[in-house]
Amino acid sequence: MKKTIVIYGSTTGNTETLSKYVGEGLKASGAEVVVKNVTESGPEELKDYDVIVLGCSTWGDGELQDDFISFEKEMRKIRLNGKKGAVFGPGDSIYPQFCKAVDILEERLKSCGAEIIIDSLKIDGDIQPQLEKAEDWGKSLRKRLNE
Ligand SMILES: Cc1cc2nc3c(=O)[nH]c(=O)nc-3n(C[C@H](O)[C@H](O)[C@H](O)COP(=O)(O)O)c2cc1C
Repeated sequence: MKKTIVIYGSTTGNTETLSKYVGEGLKASGAEVVVKNVTESGPEELKDYDVIVLGCSTWGDGELQDDFISFEKEMRKIRLNGKKGAVFGPGDSIYPQFCKAVDILEERLKSCGAEIIIDSLKIDGDIQPQLEKAEDWGKSLRKRLNE
């Protein structure tokens, strides 16, 4: 069975909450899923998993959430060939760089050699009415893994 890790970076808790729903969606079929704050992980850990899901909010003017900055830099040193990847994050379309962190991490996973297997999920604005969307995205991701 494929081992999956969901790593999130979250300042006010929105990405953290979304991660739990994405994780639930992924687990629906009984798969092994670890959900972790980026502050408790390092890129080397990614090598232990088959599927890498990164969740990150966007701050400043299109920047990664603070805790993800050093993690993303460290990722530049590792290879993730043969791994499957997916990225999600909340943001707000009132900002010109809407969910830019999601795009940055998608590109990073690709340049490390991972294959992106689903369109990234970008949640615009208040996450509360959109939690089901996050769970459904996790379920779709799981289906892709079984295809
Ligand atoms: C000062 C500030 C800057 C932000 N910059 C962006 C941005 O450039 N792009 C975007 O899509 N969202 C931006 N946001 C919105 C956050 O990404 C959004 O509130 C998100 O849900 C926070 O998630 P978190 O609690 O997991 O960190 C910004 C929010 C604040 C307060």
